[in-house]
This record gives sequence, C-alpha cells and structure tokens, in this order.
Amino acid sequence: MKRIFLVGYMGAGKTTLGKLLADRLNFEFIDLDLYIENRYHKTVGSIFAEKGEEEFRLIENNMLHEVGEFENVLIATGGGTPCFHDNMEYMNRRGITVYLKTTPEVLHRRLKIAKGKRPLLKGKSDQELMDFICMNLERRSPMYEKSVLVFNADKLDTYEELEHSVNLLA
Ligand code: S3P
Repeated sequence: MKRIFLVGYMGAGKTTLGKLLADRLNFEFIDLDLYIENRYHKTVGSIFAEKGEEEFRLIENNMLHEVGEFENVLIATGGGTPCFHDNMEYMNRRGITVYLKTTPEVLHRRLKIAKGKRPLLKGKSDQELMDFICMNLERRSPMYEKSVLVFNADKLDTYEELEHSVNLLA
C-alpha cells in the first residue's frame, strides 16, 4: 500500500485525523488544499474568487494527479475532490480511499466556527449553513461512498476520541 486518500465533507476531520494517522503509519502527510495554495501562492478562497470554481476544480484535478504519483503518502483531499472529473475513480486506482463519514448535525457544529476560510460556506447564517450541508452532502454522498473503507468520523472532538480513531484505522 503506497497511498491513502482521505475523503469526506468539509469538517469531517480529514486534516486533523490525517496528520495523526500519517504519523502513526510513517507516511508523509499531504493536505491537497495546502498543496494547491503553496503551488499557486494563493489561498483556496482567492483562487475561487479570482478564477471561479470551475477553474479551481481543474487545478484540484491536476494537483491530485501530481500527488497521486507520490509513494508512502496519506493525502487529505478537499471536500469536493471526489465529486469532480474522474477524481474518485482515479483515487481508487491509485490507492486506498477512506471515507470519513459524518452526520449533518456534527458537520454543522464544526463548520459553524470554521466556515470563514471556506468559500462555499462564507456568509451563510446558521440555518442556511444547515440547509446547504444537508443538500450538498446528499448530492455528494454517492461519490464518497465509492471509497473502499467507510469510517464513522462523528467522534473526533477530544484527544481520546482522535486517538481511538487512529488506533482503529492504523
Ligand atoms: C471544498 C472543500 C475545501 C476546499 C474548497 C472546496 C468543497 O476543502 O477544497 O473550499 O467543495 O467541499 P476542505 O474539505 O478541506 O474544507
């Protein structure tokens, strides 16, 4: 096994869990959003604002194909990564995909305080955020569910819960 791809909605815990898991497995950790930001010297937010989502998805696809060549890496993808282009099929060809599955309620609680840096969520009221998560998650779930492993990621809020999850996955 050379590559692990963590997939799931924004706020599912891909980065938080991914870092710990990569460490435990002695894999390099790559956050796809950060990889894009470093390459383009721009935040994901400004790429969305300046070039639009369609262009961002092209960039994301290109960068995914680049990191998909690396070995012994754990890649935390963006919430939308599996849902555009051939990304989900590509990831399933290149490594082990793990879906961090979460309920809309848990996502809402986490994203309420972390929506600012996410262009798709910015400026939404609590109710709008909940409606958006429910609608968007329902649309995206069939793609996420194509992962080889599905992991319940609702309980990642304390150190103990995180440790427990890492132990289960490692
Ligand atoms: C997105 C998720 C974000 C980032 C971009 C779009 C999405 O990544 O790629 O804002 O479409 O769900 P995170 O899941 O790491 O927040």
